[in-house]
Amino acid sequence: MPTTSDRTFDLPDTIASLPERPFEFSRSGWDRAAAILSTGPDELFQRLLHEQESESTLLASRRIIAAFLSPRSASAAQADMLPEDAGADTIAAHVTTVRRVLAATIDSLRHLEPDVREAVARQRAPLGLLGGCWLDVVSQPATQPSIVVNRLFAHHWAQRGEGNPQGSVHHLRRGALERLGVYLPDIAAADFLSRAQARPLTALHGCLYLALSRLPANFLPEVVGVHYVFHALGVDDLLLGTPPPLSEAMVREALAEYLALAGRSERRRLQAAIRLTLTLEREHVAMLAELGSRRSELSLESRVAEVIARHAPLAGRQHGAVRVGDRLLSEAFGDPDLDLAAFLTAFRESGYLQPSGDGTCRFIRAMKFGGPMFGIFDEREAATFRAWVATVQAGERPRIEISANTVGDEQAERWSAAIARSAPADVVVAEASPRDDRELFYRLVNIENFANTLPLAAERAARCFEEAEVLFTHGAEGRYTDASYFDYSPQALYERAERVYWDKLVNPYEPLEEIPDRDEVIFRQTTYHLTYLIDGAWIHRTGNLGRSERESDSMLFAIYADEMGHGDLRKNHITLTHLAMGSMGIELPHIRDAAFMAQVELPDQPYGFAIQQLCMCLFPDRFYNEILGYNLAIEMFGAGEVRLHEIQKLRHHGFDPCYEQAHLTIDNFSAGHTRQAADIIVSYLDGIGRTLGDAVVQEEWRRIWRGYASFAYFLEQPLLKKVASGSEASDDAMADLVI
Ligand SMILES: [Fe+2]
Ligand SMILES: [Fe+2]
Repeated sequence: MPTTSDRTFDLPDTIASLPERPFEFSRSGWDRAAAILSTGPDELFQRLLHEQESESTLLASRRIIAAFLSPRSASAAQADMLPEDAGADTIAAHVTTVRRVLAATIDSLRHLEPDVREAVARQRAPLGLLGGCWLDVVSQPATQPSIVVNRLFAHHWAQRGEGNPQGSVHHLRRGALERLGVYLPDIAAADFLSRAQARPLTALHGCLYLALSRLPANFLPEVVGVHYVFHALGVDDLLLGTPPPLSEAMVREALAEYLALAGRSERRRLQAAIRLTLTLEREHVAMLAELGSRRSELSLESRVAEVIARHAPLAGRQHGAVRVGDRLLSEAFGDPDLDLAAFLTAFRESGYLQPSGDGTCRFIRAMKFGGPMFGIFDEREAATFRAWVATVQAGERPRIEISANTVGDEQAERWSAAIARSAPADVVVAEASPRDDRELFYRLVNIENFANTLPLAAERAARCFEEAEVLFTHGAEGRYTDASYFDYSPQALYERAERVYWDKLVNPYEPLEEIPDRDEVIFRQTTYHLTYLIDGAWIHRTGNLGRSERESDSMLFAIYADEMGHGDLRKNHITLTHLAMGSMGIELPHIRDAAFMAQVELPDQPYGFAIQQLCMCLFPDRFYNEILGYNLAIEMFGAGEVRLHEIQKLRHHGFDPCYEQAHLTIDNFSAGHTRQAADIIVSYLDGIGRTLGDAVVQEEWRRIWRGYASFAYFLEQPLLKKVASGSEASDDAMADLVI
């Protein structure tokens, strides 16, 4: 079957996996990853979620994926072995059988007592809420415009609510959880896992899905397998009673499409991922069932003990001189090995539980309004205490035995051990020192394999932002931009954007009277193509899991989705670029291929601009503000005089103007990307103003405007030369236009 190679790339993009390449990490990245992996499941989960920009996260992810996919870990899944050439229907039939078994278990969980059902739903919540994260960056410069990736991206777009965050799976699941009484903070919140009371096994399963979300280009067969099984089983929807976000027919179609393009090794990898996901989901449902029955059978004393265990670490010195038995409470609650059975045995004999005249006791009164413990326990916890106190006061003295909650721990230890010993052979320790811009570009496109380039990328992007500030002073004279600084207000921003758009980009347009010859037109176009080939890249990593709380995040994602045609290849801007280049007879390897480093069709000049874009996009947290400003600049440049001239020239010579044409309309200022880009900035700064105040708004704004200036910095080279030398700028600004 066709796979990526070093030959010339041609549409359609039929890759089913990237060529297998080693993963390079620096020595320091290696050491940090080892430190991350040695933390417990909760910490690991949080690091993978939070640190999307670091080299060590990618290495930790590589090792986690290897651990879960190792033959040793997968040996339990023999029952799921399918013929090597199994088609989508055969796979679907098998997965349906498993779903039936799981559905019966899940159905019994739905009929448990409300508080037990709530505990079960709470336990599943981390997986339900991160479900689908493996699609977060499956669309990236290295994988576009692949058929498989665009099908997955269409699913991603659907799961994200097609531009309406309130309709996203994440949001709908959260609503369903809340109807069951499970209220959780944002998944990226520091206390998310503790509030979800996540068992180590839940956190570890989450780690696999998060790890995949960090390396989806290299693990495309695995992503497809996980995606199919996770959705076809639909554990979360069975448990919550919600409609499936993607129907089985939809995910089966994607699976069939993938199989049609996959070779033998890709099918093998896909099937391994299918077996793994079946194993994980069986394991998790079994754990939920065990949790459900444990909670249903829990003695009153054990329930009381659980409440105390939950609150004890937070009690600090609050209890002062209060003693139970012969021990100070502050000391007992600070003891990580506190014997809860002994504690409760002593507590039930203490004066705090002795009945008082009003039928209560000191302990119950302390929990009431006005008491020192008012508001500490929620209603359910307080009810548990009251029920227990009533039995104690009625004279019941059962032997107190408290069984520790070890649900899922055996499996969790197996996965933890697999992670600890995981040492994938394709990991290489090396320092990044690209010999030139072409190699750097190649490394940035394939960043999953060259994560050791990340520190270099951050430094280069930051340097450019700093240097671009020269235009804060001189930018007004820009030919296509005005990056001169101004104090922020929404009106000032809209006014500046509108003025640049009309005065510098649209109104100067007059049709060309003379059309340059064919070679000159092609040459001009080749100075643009490198950046066209990475269209949308500047925002392809924004709005990932844990970063979609701000309105600006989903607005940015909507622009990116437009750039990728919402997964419709005919509307995908990378497809349009290849069509346009094809019409000019330009043949190139794909940018993901090593052979692209030696391409001779596109000149060297635009590499700096493309590299800056790829550098900044890898840091969607660190350079969020700069990306917002850059987004405005680049979207604005999509419309106007330059495009219109290019269209005229392309048409004249019979070349395909589809790329230029698409941008004329989609990037306009009435409702297109340019307008949206300005709205995004206003929305973001509005949020800052409301939470942190106006002074912070101006600081944040300055960084946003640096992002705008960094785009102008490449576009306005004649102006910058003039500033540097104090001489006149070239009349022909276009002579230096490189994007
Ligand atoms: Fe575009
Ligand atoms: Fe655009």
